[in-house]
Amino acid sequence: MKHITVLTSAIAGLAMILALPAAAGMKMDSAAAGKVLAQAASHGAEMFAHDTFGGSRKMHGVSVTCDTCHMGGGQVAGRLPNGKQIPSLVNAAAIFPRYNPNLHRVATLEMQIQHCVKGGLGGRPPAFGSKAMVDMVAYLHSIAKGQPVDAGGMPK
Ligand code: HEC
Repeated sequence: MKHITVLTSAIAGLAMILALPAAAGMKMDSAAAGKVLAQAASHGAEMFAHDTFGGSRKMHGVSVTCDTCHMGGGQVAGRLPNGKQIPSLVNAAAIFPRYNPNLHRVATLEMQIQHCVKGGLGGRPPAFGSKAMVDMVAYLHSIAKGQPVDAGGMPK
């Protein structure tokens, strides 16, 4: 009988420990959580259109931003400075991670963002987990809403 009591209280204790992180996450209701996420995506959109990430490159006298190549916030086909068309970013967040033949390894969306900041903007790539990186990822996911998750898939 005593053994059962000990076991029961051990299980109860374990259940409480396991429930703690979930309870902490419940402090914010889903409407409020959605608002914070929307704010992150909207800051990402702003950076996409205006931020040079410390780069000083200009095209036709205008500072280069993500939108210089990925026009319309990345929601329409893009164009490189040499006139070459590139796909839009509408499903970008849904098709990473994927194998990158130049890097000879699987690359994530974050790695691609860093690559474009460095190579495209000549800027300082945001660190993994930084606010700038998180907000840019949130923006790219917001424009990919409803796109089928398809790691390794083709850009649209
Ligand atoms: C000078 C042009 C240029 C600029 C500026 C640029 N990119 Fe890119 N981006 C490219 C090219 C070209 C590709 C195609 C793949 C590659 O070369 O790696 C690409 C690919 C991408 C992809 C992957 C798309 C896919 O589905 O394969 C993402 C995401 C992306 N860019 C985000 C950004 C973000 C965010 C910025 C701004 C911080 C940015 N890019 C700035 C040229 C640019």
